[in-house]
Amino acid sequence: VEAAPLKVMIAGAPAAGKGTQCQKIVDKFSLVHISAGDLLRAEVASGSEAGKKAESFMSQGYLVPNELVVEMVKNRLSQEDAQQTGWLLDGYPRSADQAEAIEEAGIRPDVFILIDVPDNELVERVTGRRLDPDTNTIYHMKFKPPPESIVHRLVQRSDDTEDKLRNRLETHHKNVEAVIGYYKDILIEVDGQRSMDEVFAEIDGVLSAFKEVESLRAAA
Ligand code: AP5
Repeated sequence: VEAAPLKVMIAGAPAAGKGTQCQKIVDKFSLVHISAGDLLRAEVASGSEAGKKAESFMSQGYLVPNELVVEMVKNRLSQEDAQQTGWLLDGYPRSADQAEAIEEAGIRPDVFILIDVPDNELVERVTGRRLDPDTNTIYHMKFKPPPESIVHRLVQRSDDTEDKLRNRLETHHKNVEAVIGYYKDILIEVDGQRSMDEVFAEIDGVLSAFKEVESLRAAA
């Protein structure tokens, strides 16, 4: 019997390093990365009615209403690639309602990773962040400087200001305990106030150990 594909959720404050770690996890474990924020930004970019509505919440740092998010994420998770190779869900669930909805759909991860970074550190992470739209790589002007040749094409997210971060943080702190409550038995808290590689080494250890146990179990 083959081991079931790995299912992982990753959470943390805005700019705690979720996207950064997801890129590393995907490289090593070949999971399908599903980011609620990326799905929403794609909807906004498409110019659809749902996208227009979502944008008004995102630009203020508030959660987008569930009617725009819940089905979107459930649909993405149910697609063939995610079902076959396993998934890494980033930025969902972000409230008790969302956790409830996904539990009702019978969707549960094997591991829930929470990246812990104190608020005061997040300001610098948010304001220094830049994205490469061609490769989707996340850079930081100080902590992960981009090569000089691509600096001209980098973009900054409109919600990446100190001012907008305040609302995003408030939203996060208001909801995180309720979300974690659903995943206490599989929760892994990771200290995110270390280098990107050190954070990844810990996550890698946890996921590798889990996979090892699963494949032994499948073989037994
Ligand atoms: P979303 O896109 O999910 O944004 P977020 O949660 O605010 O997270 P970020 O993408 O800002 O940060 P990250 O943790 O991925 O950090 P990164 O790795 O880039 O959501 C955006 C909006 O969409 C929400 O505000 C909401 O409106 C809406 N939304 C999303 N999900 C929703 C849901 N489920 N329901 C309703 N609405 C929803 O790192 C940040 C920077 O720090 C980078 O520059 C990076 O290079 C640097 N960095 C990373 N790690 C380190 C390290 N260890 N040391 C130093 N620097 C580091």
